[in-house]
Amino acid sequence: MKGIVLSGGSGTRLHPVTLAVSKQLLPVFDKPMIYYSLSLLLFAGIRDILIITTPKDQDSYRALLGDGSAIGISISYAVQPEPKGIAQAFLIGSDFIGGDSCALVLGDNILYGSGLQRQLREETAKHKRGAVAFSCAVSDPERFGIVTFGPDGKPISIEEKPKTPRSNQAVIGLYFYDNRVVEIARQLKPSARGELEITAINQWYLERGELNVVPLGRGYAWLDAGTHEALVQAGEFVRIVEQRQGLKLGCIEEIAYRMNFIGLDQLQAIAGKYKASAYGDYLERLIEEAKSATARVTG
Ligand code: TTP
Repeated sequence: MKGIVLSGGSGTRLHPVTLAVSKQLLPVFDKPMIYYSLSLLLFAGIRDILIITTPKDQDSYRALLGDGSAIGISISYAVQPEPKGIAQAFLIGSDFIGGDSCALVLGDNILYGSGLQRQLREETAKHKRGAVAFSCAVSDPERFGIVTFGPDGKPISIEEKPKTPRSNQAVIGLYFYDNRVVEIARQLKPSARGELEITAINQWYLERGELNVVPLGRGYAWLDAGTHEALVQAGEFVRIVEQRQGLKLGCIEEIAYRMNFIGLDQLQAIAGKYKASAYGDYLERLIEEAKSATARVTG
């Protein structure tokens, strides 16, 4: 399965912060926002990734992530000239997707919860046909794409920003699709707001009984960082959880190491680059722990 991170958009709710900097490069506590989205693809075992950005931001993303080889993955880049909708990712990425299935994650998707890695790996491993979306409970459902489930647990409707929501389960910005998604995106017409809507794609699969929506339980937090307030709150959330546990959220280097995409040498090389920061200290600590675990086993 290939993976696309859609990281364009104009971030108007964060103006003037996002006039010169892409929203998804802004820090959420100790790392750029896009790390949290990327980590979801890494958890799912996806190593071939396309990052779609605005034309003006592409160089910054390249400076941050390069070709991905430092963390044992392949990253390529494409631009979305204007934010014409999330589903446009499949048109921009059609060559990249080729004949494969494809995951899509929005570059501002921050998801945290116990069992996330296992859940994502299971879903990708069993995915053959159709679409998979994920939902989380929200307190303000009128702001999101809302899914309603039937008695058998299957989704029966998805409504974009409903005035009278039928549930509080919001579809989050992470989806798995079979290869038909490219052709479905080609057939889409822009909505009233002039965008190719991801909900229209999900609707296509829903109507054919081929959409599976996995509700993520109460143990999950899905964070928004789209407004000034929400961005600070997301950073604060990450800081508190990290400080409490002594473990990092969305640390792509750690995930790449734990997923065996890279070895200790590569992790060491990155830690060396970041040695002036607490982030680098954290990577150093992981290396020390791994070394002493190996010494215990071999000694
Ligand atoms: P939004 O939050 O809808 O848009 P935005 O990020 O530009 O912010 P604002 O509402 O403040 O103007 O987008 C959700 C995510 O999808 C975000 O990561 C940007 C991305 N996106 C694109 O990359 N291209 C698009 O055409 C759209 C609609 C969204």
